[in-house]
Amino acid sequence: MTVRILDSPAAAGAAAAAVVRDCVQDKPDAVLGFATGSSPLPLYNALAESGEDFSGVRGFALDEYVGLPPGDPRSYATVINSEVVERLGLPQGTVRVPDAAAADLDAAAREYEQAIRDAGGVDLQILGIGHNGHVAFNEPGSALDSRTRVEELAERTRRANARFFDSPDEVPTRCLTQGLGTILDARHLLLIAHGADKAEIVARALQGPVTPDCPASALQLHPRVTVVLDRAAAAKLTDTGTPA
Ligand code: GLP
Repeated sequence: MTVRILDSPAAAGAAAAAVVRDCVQDKPDAVLGFATGSSPLPLYNALAESGEDFSGVRGFALDEYVGLPPGDPRSYATVINSEVVERLGLPQGTVRVPDAAAADLDAAAREYEQAIRDAGGVDLQILGIGHNGHVAFNEPGSALDSRTRVEELAERTRRANARFFDSPDEVPTRCLTQGLGTILDARHLLLIAHGADKAEIVARALQGPVTPDCPASALQLHPRVTVVLDRAAAAKLTDTGTPA
């Protein structure tokens, strides 16, 4: 695991963008895994500002809420479209998002897994981390080998995401999410976190026991992980080997 600690979220975003650019330079039709939430936004800003050609890239989003109408501005399909597809100049339709409006959600989950396999797997998976250690929407208790499936959102997660909704009650209670096993199949994982509120969970995830109680601790099982943090999010790590 490589841990990089930068002075600010913007600097962390630039460092993470360099990892993405390296991947795409090596493989212009790379399959990227895209995360939503605020953590990857400085990365997406840096990629958009780089002016590089990402038009050959294909992608998969990590998760989607169940129960929002198609086109809802809070849906991850809409967010991925505005923050990633449009800003990076990707052709429409090249980034898939789990079909959480499907009548048969279990079938939609299986189809998503198959689509990732058909694309040859994910080359580089961008990840954020929730305050309770969730990655994508794998809440505490998720099996380390779980696959794409319907999940109930934890109350902690619904509270955190209420900032995107008019009232906390509007936050959906369910989602369709890639599993931890699905995420661990990606060839390279890129975890981004910033802010003092993430410091404790980052330390638990990277240096605590590997346990479903902290789903992000599953990253310790992966052979190729790059972690990019700002100084505040790194504050509770011990002995990272990175000069302060
Ligand atoms: C969200 C998303 C995750 C994200 C996490 C952290 O609910 N489902 O993919 O990584 O929570 O969000 P943020 O980056 O806004 O702190």
